[in-house]
Amino acid sequence: MDKVQQIPSGTTDEFTPEQFAELDKWIAAYKGKTGSVIRALNKAQEIFGYLPREVQDRVAKGLDRPLSEVYGIVTFYSFFTVVPKGRHSVCACMGTACYVRGGQQVLDDLKKELNIEVGGTTADREFSLSSIRCMGACALAPVVRIDDDVHRQVTPKKVKEILGNYSQKFAGGAE
Ligand code: FES
Repeated sequence: MDKVQQIPSGTTDEFTPEQFAELDKWIAAYKGKTGSVIRALNKAQEIFGYLPREVQDRVAKGLDRPLSEVYGIVTFYSFFTVVPKGRHSVCACMGTACYVRGGQQVLDDLKKELNIEVGGTTADREFSLSSIRCMGACALAPVVRIDDDVHRQVTPKKVKEILGNYSQKFAGGAE
């Protein structure tokens, strides 16, 4: 029960009644079926982009399940997120090859420039930051992926310049 009280409330006034109606339709379709909670949460994340408290509540009530169960599933699976995603997804590799070639410093610089931690989203919703254990491009280490672009041999110096390709805020590389 404690856990439920810690569920981030989120700001859902950005969502439309049509989005909730769409979710309700899927909840009704999944109700009583195997894996209904996870399937409804998947749909909800597709519809809303993330799973704030209000959306989790809707899923729990619609499926007649306790909110704690829904929240437990949301926090168990890493592909569910309770924070909104940024327009650009930044993923730093923390696998061995990338780590030994300076990946940690690159990640630290990304955190500093974006002013967020891993798992966070910038206040302007431009960037989300995550890390991964290996993206299968070890020869190019250290690697940072932004959206579908893989940036190779990234150095801390290049971090701002790379971000500048995605946001005016970092364009020019210096501040
Ligand atoms: S360890 Fe980074 S790509 Fe493999």
